[in-house]
Amino acid sequence: MATSITLLLFLLSTAAFLRPSASQTSAAGSRPANQTTCNGIFLTYQFEGRQKIHPTSSKPAEQPYSFSGNVTVLNSGTVDLKAWTLAVGFSHREVIVSVSNAVLSDGSALPLFTDPKTPVSFSGFPNPDLKTPIATAGDLSQIQNSISIIGTQFGVPDPRVPLPTNLYLADPAWTCPSAAIAPSNTSLYTCCVPNLDPKTNSTSNDNSTISNEFLARRPGDLSITYDVIQAFPSSYLALVTIENESPLGRLDNWRLNWDWMRGEFIYSIKGAYTSLVSASDCIFGQQGQYYQSFDFTKVVNCQKKPTILDLPPSKFNDTDVGRIPFCCRNGTILPKTMDPSQSSSAFQLQVYKMPPDLNRTLLFPPQNWKIAGGTLNPDYSCGAPIRVAPTMISDPSGLQSNSSAIATWQIVCNISEPKDSKPKCCVSFSAFYNGSVVPCKTCACGCPNSRVSQTCNATAPALLLPPDALLVPFDNRSAKAKAWAEIKHFNVPEPMPCGDFCGVSINWHINTDYNKGWTARVTMFNWEDVSFANWFMAVEMPKAYDGFEAAYSFNGTKIGNNTIFMQGLEGLNYLMGEVDGADPARDPRVPGKQQSVISFTKSSTPGIDVPAGAGFPSRLFFNGEECSLPSILPANGAFRMAAAGGGGGIVSLVLILLTTALLLVWQ
Ligand SMILES: *[C@@H]1O[C@H](CO)[C@@H](O)[C@H](O)[C@H]1NC(C)=O
Ligand SMILES: *[C@@H]1O[C@H](CO)[C@@H](O)[C@H](O)[C@H]1NC(C)=O
Ligand SMILES: *[C@@H]1O[C@H](CO)[C@@H](O)[C@H](O)[C@H]1NC(C)=O
Ligand SMILES: *[C@@H]1O[C@H](CO)[C@@H](O)[C@H](O)[C@H]1NC(C)=O
Ligand SMILES: *[C@@H]1O[C@H](CO)[C@@H](O)[C@H](O)[C@H]1NC(C)=O
Ligand SMILES: *[C@@H]1O[C@H](CO)[C@@H](O)[C@H](O)[C@H]1NC(C)=O
Ligand SMILES: *[C@@H]1O[C@H](CO)[C@@H](O)[C@H](O)[C@H]1NC(C)=O
Ligand SMILES: *[C@@H]1O[C@H](CO)[C@@H](O)[C@H](O)[C@H]1NC(C)=O
Ligand SMILES: *[C@@H]1O[C@H](CO)[C@@H](O)[C@H](O)[C@H]1NC(C)=O
Ligand SMILES: *[C@@H]1O[C@H](CO)[C@@H](O)[C@H](O)[C@H]1NC(C)=O
Ligand SMILES: *[C@@H]1O[C@H](CO)[C@@H](O)[C@H](O)[C@H]1NC(C)=O
Ligand SMILES: *[C@@H]1O[C@H](CO)[C@@H](O)[C@H](O)[C@H]1NC(C)=O
Repeated sequence: MATSITLLLFLLSTAAFLRPSASQTSAAGSRPANQTTCNGIFLTYQFEGRQKIHPTSSKPAEQPYSFSGNVTVLNSGTVDLKAWTLAVGFSHREVIVSVSNAVLSDGSALPLFTDPKTPVSFSGFPNPDLKTPIATAGDLSQIQNSISIIGTQFGVPDPRVPLPTNLYLADPAWTCPSAAIAPSNTSLYTCCVPNLDPKTNSTSNDNSTISNEFLARRPGDLSITYDVIQAFPSSYLALVTIENESPLGRLDNWRLNWDWMRGEFIYSIKGAYTSLVSASDCIFGQQGQYYQSFDFTKVVNCQKKPTILDLPPSKFNDTDVGRIPFCCRNGTILPKTMDPSQSSSAFQLQVYKMPPDLNRTLLFPPQNWKIAGGTLNPDYSCGAPIRVAPTMISDPSGLQSNSSAIATWQIVCNISEPKDSKPKCCVSFSAFYNGSVVPCKTCACGCPNSRVSQTCNATAPALLLPPDALLVPFDNRSAKAKAWAEIKHFNVPEPMPCGDFCGVSINWHINTDYNKGWTARVTMFNWEDVSFANWFMAVEMPKAYDGFEAAYSFNGTKIGNNTIFMQGLEGLNYLMGEVDGADPARDPRVPGKQQSVISFTKSSTPGIDVPAGAGFPSRLFFNGEECSLPSILPANGAFRMAAAGGGGGIVSLVLILLTTALLLVWQ
């Protein structure tokens, strides 16, 4: 038994290593054209040198070096290269400390600790576009961009040269052969050509976009536009619009950050506010020196990295700071399916520029955009601003005319799962055919270190619970859990498993299962002090989706992709926070609750096996955040494993074996 588990675990771990590595754009293993023969985009990484730095180490692999490198992007082809993004596969634990002539595409802060599995992407700044040699008579300043990179790197003893493993344009419109090492051994190069595969819509090989000055807008979960709507030599007026494009995306109390790259500062802002109102960075900085006779008392913010927040609804009609369409909703951005009028936010700001940009036409958007929402919102990561066709802004006074922005950039943000991020909500499963509830996983939302070691076990599986234990806070459940374990002859570990530490938990209960259909009862518990206005929940149910009929106390709709979207009905769209019990001294605190029964028909899903897993969600989202699901299902006769999580055959087999082993241990 033990041997076969070990064997399977071994197979499983090897399988993980055999997975194809992360995106590497490479055509047939041919050697790329060299600088003389390249008729596309020629990329080089030139290693310029390195020096040992402190702390010194006797282990060669731990010795840090400072290094500098130089990446050159040269357009030798016949089409403009717009909004270039270059990926470099660093593989010696490089720490990127400074970058000139480019920014990190995902807006990460420097120093950046690179991960060999994720190439680092750079976007051109201040010049994101490269013209063709034909259009510029080969003027290097317009067709070439050199980025210098300074950083720290470990290991690779002399005389080996620590070159990156790969170099390519991170744009499906271009195909780059695997980079080759030049004969000098100190540089890496490749030559990218337009991707002629019609399946990926290439922006560069489509002749219409060559004549057209701008790149097409890109799809993403959140699309931010930075429209310059008025321009003066030393200042401009920008309108920033944040639009939710994802059916499950959501932000509450959004906070937006960016970096001014060229000494700009915010003179005034309407429709939003900066978290700090201060001109001191300007007064003591280069801005104060340049704008000698300027009244800085009116300046709103001079930080290089300002934080911008939405105004509360009460400011909507304020003539000084409000009166911007879509502003002033306390930073709430809902999915379009829920309420299109609440799916975007906008604000306007007046920006002052610094030399050498004092020219109406010299406009540079801020870089390194970041947007974050409330505790129960998904995480977003944003790309670099890309120049797109100017936005058409309809006349606010209702005239039949459109005005065009002077210049527009688009910033695309996608829902991302940062490493070591934990869910913020969890799900428990129960069913009419089993008296025990499968609770949320131990530490589903992370366990605070301070509480773990002494009092509870962070790795022990959660104890099955009696249904009424779900109604009380985790801290008050121990007695109930222990009594239940005694009745049911479960083993009680000592110390007990830790709680789930989730602010919101959701119970999915199979209520009935008969010939023609079945029902589930879903209950949301809010253990936080804050309440959730306009909450929504989305469940993915691949096998049961087609049979969805109705949610009785919620407004449930099918939105495609096997996903059922549920929100509160008019007047029930508030999930209250946790409150004190009737007698705070004696009674436990009471969570905010919302509950509905959901019915499914079996006529459109013949043969559905509800207890086997088809009746439980495979993914569940609350306010856009994906919740942690239990790994086991309530047993129906035999102990069954969740089909959820979508592991392969080997995974399920291992899980079944492990469960059997655990059962043996329990008995
Ligand atoms: C580039 O490649 C061509 C043909 O493969 C070769 O003749 C030429 O010498 C190479 N040039 C350089 C600079 O390596
Ligand atoms: C980077 O390399 C290119 C070509 O080798 C060179 O022209 C340029 O001066 C270098 N830039 C820096 C900052 O070293
Ligand atoms: C480059 O590396 C190869 C293989 O390691 C070696 O044979 C060659 O002599 C090196 N060339 C130079 C110029 O150092
Ligand atoms: C390519 O572009 C066309 C028109 O712009 C669009 O209809 C089509 O869906 C796109 N295809 C892909 C794979 O993006
Ligand atoms: C684009 O232009 C080139 C050269 O003018 C031509 O050969 C090619 O067919 C055009 N492609 C499309 C999609 O029109
Ligand atoms: C703003 O003014 C409009 C029209 O005067 C009014 O309908 C609306 O209720 C006001 N909104 C707020 C938040 O005061
Ligand atoms: C706006 O958000 C703040 C902070 O989250 C909260 O205290 C306040 O009640 C909210 N106001 C409205 C009108 O929702
Ligand atoms: C349910 O939600 C949809 C989409 O938001 C909306 O169109 C519909 O009116 C709502 N129905 C009820 C009964 O609230
Ligand atoms: C502003 O920039 C444009 C184009 O970049 C240039 O032609 C013009 O001379 C500049 N004006 C001033 C006052 O520098
Ligand atoms: C204004 O622009 C919108 C969107 O581009 C377009 O649908 C509308 O027809 C335009 N209105 C006028 C008057 O041109
Ligand atoms: C916690 O639980 C795990 C799994 O049940 C067990 O292996 C471990 O020994 C327990 N830790 C403590 C401190 O009891
Ligand atoms: C369905 O999934 C596809 C691909 O994951 C995504 O592009 C699309 O937006 C999704 N549609 C809905 C309605 O969720």
